[in-house]
Amino acid sequence: MSKALIMLVRVLGLASIILGALLWAEHQQLLGAHIGIGFLVAIAIFVLSVIALTKKAVLPGILGVVFAFLLPLIGFMQLPLTFHTMRAIQVVHIMVALSIIGLGERLYSAIRSAS
Ligand code: HEM
Repeated sequence: MSKALIMLVRVLGLASIILGALLWAEHQQLLGAHIGIGFLVAIAIFVLSVIALTKKAVLPGILGVVFAFLLPLIGFMQLPLTFHTMRAIQVVHIMVALSIIGLGERLYSAIRSAS
């Protein structure tokens, strides 16, 4: 199960980056797809974190739960769309989004080494 979840994080994380960049470049119609896929990334990270916590990987597990809530929260704080700008909240969104993909890898390796 954790293998399928990390594959989802990798594929959907990449799709979110591409959609996010297009969104920034004024393709407003991609907002729904970007947010939908972003939510799937957050849910996959949340489930990986719960699995990690059950395997006693406490630090990555707690960080994963926190980031899984932060990602959509900060994502929505960017609205309304402004296009071609880079406000502080957008920088924070990109940092949280990229960190969550790295965190996914950390969770996956913690789960594997505990099994
Ligand atoms: C529930 C989760 C998410 C929500 C609600 C969300 C929301 C948004 C919104 C509203 C924008 C447009 C900001 C603007 O142009 O003013 C945006 C842009 C962007 N998002 Fe997300 N996003 C989510 C997840 C993700 C994920 C998982 C990634 C990548 C791993 C990501 C990467 C980006 C990038 C690269 C941009 C373009 C740069 C920017 O405008 O800030 N997002 N996101």
